[in-house]
Amino acid sequence: MKTIFLIGFMGSGKSSIGEALAKQINKPSLDSDKLVEEVNQETIPAIFNREGEAGFRVKETSALERAAMKDAVISTGGGIVERPQNKVIMNQNGIIIYLHTAFETIVDRLKEDETRPLWNQDLEKRKALYEKRLPRYKEWADYVIQTDDMDVEAIVEKINSLL
Ligand code: S3P
Repeated sequence: MKTIFLIGFMGSGKSSIGEALAKQINKPSLDSDKLVEEVNQETIPAIFNREGEAGFRVKETSALERAAMKDAVISTGGGIVERPQNKVIMNQNGIIIYLHTAFETIVDRLKEDETRPLWNQDLEKRKALYEKRLPRYKEWADYVIQTDDMDVEAIVEKINSLL
């Protein structure tokens, strides 16, 4: 079996689904955001503050490259689709699963979460970011899973049935 990459917008459940799926199929669970924070010994908001989004994206790609070498379930940050080279890394190492969640559901889940710099802006900008990325998630995905009306267990079952 290959490395499994979970992609999707912030708040689509990548981290919790990734952990549950990894447990179910006996693979390690990795999270690109956590790897960036560990390697750089800095939180994501601090990296954004110091280096801006561009600096964060470079670190995110290095974390993805390292993680992709492992036979694991990898949850990626919502902006992984911002750099085309990330698609190449994932395609070369495994399969990409897009967790699709409606914008309204995400607004409901994340509320005013201030730990995500690109959520921490007005509603119009959040929506524009979602609309911009949506076609990319779909295009990059080997499989698309609708997550809105399903709990973590059902989503894990669904993904498992595709592998
Ligand atoms: C980002 C999503 C975040 C994190 C960073 C940037 C984005 O990850 O990588 O704040 O650009 O959408 P989550 O999708 O896990 O929230």
